[in-house]
Amino acid sequence: MKNFKVAIDGPAGSGKSTISKKIAAQLNFSHIDTGAMYRAVTLHAMNLGIDLSDEKNYDFLDEIEVLYLNNKILLNGIDVSKEIRDPEVTSKVSLVSSLKIVRDKMVDLQKKAASQGLVIMDGRDIGYNVLPDADLKIFLTASIECRALRRHKELPGSNLQELKEDLLKRDYADSNRKESPLKKADDALLLDTTNMTIDEVISYIICLILERMN
Ligand code: DC
Repeated sequence: MKNFKVAIDGPAGSGKSTISKKIAAQLNFSHIDTGAMYRAVTLHAMNLGIDLSDEKNYDFLDEIEVLYLNNKILLNGIDVSKEIRDPEVTSKVSLVSSLKIVRDKMVDLQKKAASQGLVIMDGRDIGYNVLPDADLKIFLTASIECRALRRHKELPGSNLQELKEDLLKRDYADSNRKESPLKKADDALLLDTTNMTIDEVISYIICLILERMN
């Protein structure tokens, strides 16, 4: 089987997961949403009621199974795709994903999951940390106004100003943490999607993939 890896990174609300999912469906790639994996660990840790900031409480990582498969995130075999989008989880995931013990475990799983076949993986550190040998690396950005507006459309009844503040807070935490922060790989292509539709972004990236695969 042919191997081809695509790494998509970018800040919250830049469209990474939506775009990666659609590209995977069109090109028959596997898609792995690494943010969903960090969210699943966060959900599990919250359910255990532990002090989330203390690495010593994360021994449970050796016993849980976190698997992203067919657009679903499975935690110990149970589909938690809906629960991981809860605002409580969203507000804690930056803290949990900043811990070295959590990142080591997730990065290991992600590398194994992408070792064979046609894979598109999205996250914050994929291009320079998880898949430094990816065949194509894209760093997606969009203005904060545009990202907040996209989230607002996805979450009926949400407050636009609050969404904007939450995104800025999360971007800051994700970009300034010690362990593998949100960062563009030197050899990633920077794509500002502020004035592009989802379909335009998808077509553009698909063209790049097909060019490089041939
Ligand atoms: O893409 P998302 O919003 O679902 O990601 C949730 C959080 O997970 C995000 O705030 C930072 C963290 N994350 C990370 O640290 N590294 C990744 N590769 C993916 C996500």
